[in-house]
Amino acid sequence: MSQTQTLWWASESFWKKMAIWITAASAVVLIFLTFDTVAKITAGGKRVPAYSVINHRIDYVFDEKRNHQVPVIGPVEPLFGKVLSEAEAKDLVSKGKLTTQAKNCMNCHTLLGNGAYFAPDLTKSWLDPAWGSKEVREQLMVDFLMDPSDKLHNALGRRMPKLGITEEEARATVAFLKWMSAIDTNGFPANFKPIDQADAAPETAPPPVESAPVPAL
Ligand code: HEC
Repeated sequence: MSQTQTLWWASESFWKKMAIWITAASAVVLIFLTFDTVAKITAGGKRVPAYSVINHRIDYVFDEKRNHQVPVIGPVEPLFGKVLSEAEAKDLVSKGKLTTQAKNCMNCHTLLGNGAYFAPDLTKSWLDPAWGSKEVREQLMVDFLMDPSDKLHNALGRRMPKLGITEEEARATVAFLKWMSAIDTNGFPANFKPIDQADAAPETAPPPVESAPVPAL
């Protein structure tokens, strides 16, 4: 075989064209993926809820079909007792997010799994049973963020330092943490047991049945 009879798939011009086509096709795919990702991570979408989700109860329950836990948006349960408009909620959550950046919470914590492993992941900290009860937690969280140095919050044994967070910043941070707990993270963190948020049984409920007969005196 002479050198001039190069096979088509071994010719230089074929590979030049291939390079151009593959680059062009990859660019189209990347542009599509960029728009698709932006749609998925923008607040107000299916996975990242609108900021006004902080007006609602947020739970984290097992979904049989998806085989992991998913956030469930429940009845109206406003943060600090006040229902906010979408714009007001956005302002508050954004302020909280800026606070977490300014105080570098990621230096010790992870948020949505990103950050350092010195302190607990904050993705579901709004739902941490360690706060005690759903009614008191928002104030406890504000108090904790403003001065955690004298409080040992869970069994970790490490203390969080006082970071000079004002009450306004602390409230905004709690709003940010509540909003973050409503993000669908494909089951991260797994096997997380959320705080019990069931409402107290109504007064009219029948008294519990005695299981053992009361011994006669
Ligand atoms: C120097 C390290 C450090 C920094 C910075 C830090 N934390 Fe912490 N944080 C901790 C430690 C340690 C704990 C566990 C404390 C405990 O259990 O008493 C903790 C606990 C918490 C908890 C309770 C978590 C839960 O679910 O039980 C929250 C909420 C929290 N931090 C929020 C924040 C926020 C918001 C910031 C940034 C404004 C921040 N932390 C910055 C070290 C830090």
